[in-house]
Amino acid sequence: MSRFALAPGWWRRRTGYQVWPRSFCDFDGDGIGDLPGIVSKLDHLADLGVGFIWLSPVYDSPMADMGYDISDYRAIWPPFGTMADMDRLIGEAAVRDMGVVMDLVVNHTSDRHPWFLEARTDRTAPRRDWYVWRDPAPDGGPPDDRQSYFGGPGWRLAPETGQYYLALFTPAQPDLNWECAAMRAAVWDMMRWWLDRGVAGFRMDVIDHIGKDVDAGLIENGPRLHDHLREMHREVLAGRNVLTVGEAWSAEPADAVPYTGRDRGELDMLFQFRHVTEGWDPVQGKWRPRPHDPAALRRVLYSWQRATAEDGWTALFLGNHDLPRMVSRYGDPVAHRVRSAKALTLALHGLRGTPFVYQGDEFGMVNGRFDRIEEFRDVETLTHHRLAMEAGMAEAEFIAGANTNGRDTGRTPVQWTDGPGAGFTNGTPWIGLTPANAHISAEADAADANGLIAFHRRLIVLRRDMAILTDGRFAAHAEDHTSVWIYERRLGGERLLIAANLTGTEAQLDMPPDATIAGRPLLWTVAPRDRLEGTVTLAPWEAVAIHALD
Ligand code: GLC
Repeated sequence: MSRFALAPGWWRRRTGYQVWPRSFCDFDGDGIGDLPGIVSKLDHLADLGVGFIWLSPVYDSPMADMGYDISDYRAIWPPFGTMADMDRLIGEAAVRDMGVVMDLVVNHTSDRHPWFLEARTDRTAPRRDWYVWRDPAPDGGPPDDRQSYFGGPGWRLAPETGQYYLALFTPAQPDLNWECAAMRAAVWDMMRWWLDRGVAGFRMDVIDHIGKDVDAGLIENGPRLHDHLREMHREVLAGRNVLTVGEAWSAEPADAVPYTGRDRGELDMLFQFRHVTEGWDPVQGKWRPRPHDPAALRRVLYSWQRATAEDGWTALFLGNHDLPRMVSRYGDPVAHRVRSAKALTLALHGLRGTPFVYQGDEFGMVNGRFDRIEEFRDVETLTHHRLAMEAGMAEAEFIAGANTNGRDTGRTPVQWTDGPGAGFTNGTPWIGLTPANAHISAEADAADANGLIAFHRRLIVLRRDMAILTDGRFAAHAEDHTSVWIYERRLGGERLLIAANLTGTEAQLDMPPDATIAGRPLLWTVAPRDRLEGTVTLAPWEAVAIHALD
């Protein structure tokens, strides 16, 4: 079986692609995407130039949270396929020079995991200590009033022993106790088992939660976080040249180096989310999104560029399976769908870090749309709906918020063709197809030399070929402009300047003298430009990259 070649730092020049398997491609016609379906689309990914795949969970699971509730870390959920299918995916990806990065979900397991089934039976069970237990409050209720992220109490009663267990997501996802060394050793063992099978690394789910001190109320970025990450590195990762990317909603720019600094022995890069939460209502959160502000997005992404300028690294992304579609959230999905998606992609991929493309974004899929609560499938949306109704919120208002920012918006099936079942399935898809996507398909886009797939391919190749995209220093210009991003990368005598109008209205700016450039147009959304100087007018969603040698 071929193996993916792991040279040190291989991920610095590559672009990742996230597969959320349930909606990617259904091979056996049961309406649910599967591993053979992914294998059948590897040529599409290779053609795009994808350097590695981040595979969202495919492990055995009761699917309380779409597989982020694992009941067996060493088995595949049968509707997704078998371990032989998984080995074939790893091998076939390697043949095409792509690594497969697994999702590592170890803040919690499923409540059906044998570890938890054993732990809950009695207070002296050998694995009791692998989870977090507390006595009830004096009134018999939960130990404190901590709430879970997906709605409802963060502590749940296990009647067998009369104690409560911590479950920060759904009640079916009990938190593991990271203070327990035997539990950690079992996780290290499982990670080595996957690496020995040939996977190229791990995307680490809510990794900022593993150092928590529950009694002190320190949950994210807790006191033991970096100790655990260093132990993981020593025990599992050192010397293997695999890619590790941590999901950390709590991370601020000041956390970048502690997690990813070159001498830290922790992670390679982070998914940070400040640019996402920036768009939420400070009190009501994601269900009441704020209007998108391209200057706020720029401020956050630039702050991460600065935080990783000398040391550390970051992942670059605008969409994933927990977020609305990139073009719906930050672009114009109606009047300028392709052009706005290109402008956003260029503005993002020009930065320093490792870019990730979420499935379907390579040809500009837009948000799913659901008119009735019965059409939603996501546990977070459904739980919050129930709570919102109990609190007296109007149904229509909740549905509008869920269509804008809920997790099902980006989870509808990949629209491969505009034929029946979107080329995704011959059966009935597990969640509704998106009517607005009916004429947006990979097939139609790929046939267009000016399409989004061609645009992505070009960017991905540039990243492989041009050291300035990997190593160039970042410098920003015109940071007071409300709609335009102007930044450059510099390496030796080379300059790469990116200018992007990330709005649907024409924008004017006076090029700062030190940003003025004349050179070779590398990529553009409207028309090539070989210079930017004096007063410049950028068309709606116009973006351009110019390369110059001093
Ligand atoms: C992460 C995942 C999300 C999941 C949660 C709990 O945020 O991306 O999909 O629901 O962790 O595992």
